[in-house]
Amino acid sequence: AASDFVRIVEVGPRDGLQNEKQSIPVATKIELVNKLAQTGLKTIEAGSFVSPRWTPQMANSSQILEHVLQTPTSVAHPITYQWLLPNIKGLDNFLSVWQAKAGGNSGYPTPPPSPASDATSGAGANVHEISIFTAATEAFTQKNTNCSIAESLKRFEPIMAQAKEAGLNVRAYISVALGCPYEGPNVDPHKVAGLAVSLLEMGADEISVADTTGMGTAPKTAELLKTLSAAGIEKSDLALHFHDTYGQALVNSLVSLEHGIRTFDSAVAGLGGCPFSPGATGNVASEDLVHCLHSLGLRTGVDIEKLSEVGEWISYELGRSNESRAGKATMAQ
Ligand code: HMG
Ligand code: MG
Repeated sequence: AASDFVRIVEVGPRDGLQNEKQSIPVATKIELVNKLAQTGLKTIEAGSFVSPRWTPQMANSSQILEHVLQTPTSVAHPITYQWLLPNIKGLDNFLSVWQAKAGGNSGYPTPPPSPASDATSGAGANVHEISIFTAATEAFTQKNTNCSIAESLKRFEPIMAQAKEAGLNVRAYISVALGCPYEGPNVDPHKVAGLAVSLLEMGADEISVADTTGMGTAPKTAELLKTLSAAGIEKSDLALHFHDTYGQALVNSLVSLEHGIRTFDSAVAGLGGCPFSPGATGNVASEDLVHCLHSLGLRTGVDIEKLSEVGEWISYELGRSNESRAGKATMAQ
């Protein structure tokens, strides 16, 4: 039987903020990461090492990484921080900070004991991982990363080799798995499955299957999950990443839960969007997901009240409306 624990990957500081037009002070971003770490969330995607010309909002992610490496977390459990990057340049930029701050203990370039740990943290062993990303359609891959799908996989080979040498886990996203802003709603699930198999064979530790546009529906999600299983992909190697553009993210999450998926990406206050997916809105709100999972008797380790406070706070800071219904309702109680 599938576990009753659901792992939530909080992507608010990265996916949630990357599309904000106003420049957000780095102090606010760091405060968001710190506040999220106090809610019981154990995995946080905290920034990205992408081209600042493509996604200017993420330009100061190295400062967030420096802060996270330097400042002990006051929570008892280790936190896994994930850092998104598209190419070897992004990995180099990440490693130059990570090695300098944590390197004395990580032992790079000699492989450190796995998992890579940040011994400067008060909580002991915070873990850092990287995420890479490609997509199920050629058009989206071009718009998002200026290369073909095949070229994106080629880019990953040296990234994977260097990351493994450094003792870093690698998560791989497959975007537009349930609909593409350029090629339409009908993306071939076999294409997604083929990519997932290639990425796992290449050494990816987890595949995050992303509904970038929110075009996914219950039947399409079920069909995709069946196709992934038929291709031999283990449920434990999969995370699902739903954007909520059409309000279907929780429905699709339930379909995925029934299928045995136990890792989901979400963003506090429903922040988010991809600059290269016009019209797409935020990720499923973490508060809504947590509320739903707890109602099913599943465990997340997350304190919904604390999380809802963070959602209200960041919405206020950004001058945005809070997109989490459960978050607003929890705060109104
Ligand atoms: P390019 O312009 O083809 O790159 O962009 P290039 O290799 O030709 O380099 C051009 C310039 O960019 C050079 O600088 C490089 O040094 C610099 P110059 O010599 O002209 O001064 N550069 C970089 N600088 C910093 N960090 C880097 C980097 N790489 C090159 N890593 C590239 C190709 C892949 C870099 C670009 O297209 C890019 O950064 N794309 C990322 C766009 C992005 O941030 N998208 C959003 C994240 S993905 C997402 O949201 C989806 C997800 O949530 C799942 C889902 O919902 O689908 C994950
Ligand atoms: Mg996304």
